[in-house]
Amino acid sequence: MEYDIASPTLSEQGSQRMAWAGRRMQVLATLRQRFTTEKPLEGRTIAACLHVTAETANLMLALRDAGARPILCASNPLSTQDDVAAALVAEGISVFAIRGEDSTSYYDHLNAALDLEPDVTMDDGADLATLLHTSRTDITPVGSTEETTTGVIRLKAMAQDGTLRLPVVAVNDSATKHLFDNRYGTGQSALDGIIRASNVLIAGLTMVVVGYGNCGRGVADRADGHGAKVVVVEVDPVRALMAAMDGYQVMTADAAAAVGDIFITVTGNKHVLRGRHFERMKDSAIISNAGHFDIELDLVALGGMSTEKRQVRNNLEEYILEDGRRILVAAEGRLVNLGAAEGHPADVMDMSFSNQALAAEWLIANEGKLDPGIYTLADEIDRHVATLKLEALGGALETLTPEQEAYLTGWQEGT
Ligand SMILES: NC(=O)c1ccc[n+]([C@@H]2O[C@H](COP(=O)([O-])OP(=O)(O)OC[C@H]3O[C@@H](n4cnc5c(N)ncnc54)[C@H](O)[C@@H]3O)[C@@H](O)[C@H]2O)c1
Repeated sequence: MEYDIASPTLSEQGSQRMAWAGRRMQVLATLRQRFTTEKPLEGRTIAACLHVTAETANLMLALRDAGARPILCASNPLSTQDDVAAALVAEGISVFAIRGEDSTSYYDHLNAALDLEPDVTMDDGADLATLLHTSRTDITPVGSTEETTTGVIRLKAMAQDGTLRLPVVAVNDSATKHLFDNRYGTGQSALDGIIRASNVLIAGLTMVVVGYGNCGRGVADRADGHGAKVVVVEVDPVRALMAAMDGYQVMTADAAAAVGDIFITVTGNKHVLRGRHFERMKDSAIISNAGHFDIELDLVALGGMSTEKRQVRNNLEEYILEDGRRILVAAEGRLVNLGAAEGHPADVMDMSFSNQALAAEWLIANEGKLDPGIYTLADEIDRHVATLKLEALGGALETLTPEQEAYLTGWQEGT
């Protein structure tokens, strides 16, 4: 079996963490039972470029239960949990990922996964899909799946200009993914990352959330719960108005830069905090990012404005500006929830990864019937996943009476 990981000796700790995560992934467990008997992915190779975490490991086991040969490489050089990588290798699953690897090693690992000629590729950020459309046109999988907002945006741009040559399931577009993973998952884990990196008391500080999409809303909500004064920066008037009516101050980035103690970007956009903002920041302001790529904070500009850079804690670097002010950067500007914490809790990845597994099953079941394009999973799948998760949380659904059903589908009854 081929693999490239930091150290196989870490497998015991990784197995423990995988097992704990597995206990909190009840929807995936239900799916695994069906997969074990039906084997919908029998004999298929699935290459997943996802964060190498305990939750992803459980998805790999589900794919194996379905009869597939899963292969895992990292979707971010800083998010790999080396112990989990070791535990998967001990399970006989090929993993190509090492925490902190450089860009060359990162892409060597993606190519190693593609060398195994996958039938389906899974992405979190469209890096495998991009290779499949540039340097690796020698491989043509049945289809691909995409986990995150930024990846879906990239793939839609490929479809728009006619470049896309594969059917792709936008898993992010399932309601049971983006309304929960992006909001509650990022909300909790991004705060966890900032706290682990800095150990500051959030209560009483001003926290600036740049971007009020699903992720930003979750982060703002959790920061508010910790007692922060939350300021939101948005470019979309509807989202900005939502933030205002949710009770937050809405400001321009310039104005927010001067008042913030902690900043977090969650836009999927480039250089949303840059030189002009760093110039206005208070001494010891902490800046972080939870958007997909490490381009939301312009750290090149910050480096250029600084006389010195030093590590002050794990995952926290201090840049000293010419006037003596210090700006602290968490997790090198990469996803703070994965770089400085453990990523989303298993409870929410349960739904995201159940959707991933169902997307792979759907692509194989529809092999040869799908044109290149972006697809979303059917509403019934969302309803099924939500029902199972609700049951796991101890909730119960009300049902419509026949009279109510008739009322909701008719038009005759009015005032
Ligand atoms: N950290 C994680 O684990 C995690 C999880 C899910 C998604 N993501 C990533 O987080 C990012 C945001 O995802 P989302 O689902 O919230 O996206 P979204 O599209 O729902 O929200 C992004 C928001 O940012 C705003 N925005 C864009 N440019 C801006 C700017 N210059 N200043 C202020 N606001 C700006 C947009 O108007 C939008 O409201 C994406 O890159 C996504 O891939 C990260």
